[in-house]
Amino acid sequence: MVQILNAIERELGHLEGHEAADLPLVHDALHYLTNYADLYHHPVEDRLFEHLERVDESTRQQVARLREEHQALYIKGKAFFDAVREVESEVAMERREFDLLARDYLDTQRQHLDFEEAIMFPLARRVLTERDWEALAGLGDSEGDPLFGRLVHQEYERLKNAL
Ligand SMILES: [Fe+2]
Repeated sequence: MVQILNAIERELGHLEGHEAADLPLVHDALHYLTNYADLYHHPVEDRLFEHLERVDESTRQQVARLREEHQALYIKGKAFFDAVREVESEVAMERREFDLLARDYLDTQRQHLDFEEAIMFPLARRVLTERDWEALAGLGDSEGDPLFGRLVHQEYERLKNAL
């Protein structure tokens, strides 16, 4: 996930420096994030966090926050993806508007991942039992992930090679 964000940021950096940016790569990255991560990966995380709700009230609030972030990321990702497609099809768009959508999405994503990595996943490792983990493993099809799974889908081959 972080690799994908880095790749997007690298291309945006090129754009800011008025160098040639690989917009199709940004397109593919956002396609993966909005069509796969948001729809298949986040629901598994949401199920994982259900186990943490019972820890205490403050953890319950943190779980609620993460759920809201997943929703917000979906909306922000779509908005950024739409903007990329508009630029690709040469629809006039204000530079500032594009940058704001991009920044907003990337910042929210990074904060979200940091929070999960630093607080929530370590807590999950302490709280969840082996049976809980097994039940979760049955939900997510990580082997079938079109980018990081066993078989890389053709549509993500370029992206995979660029990470
Ligand atoms: Fe998440």
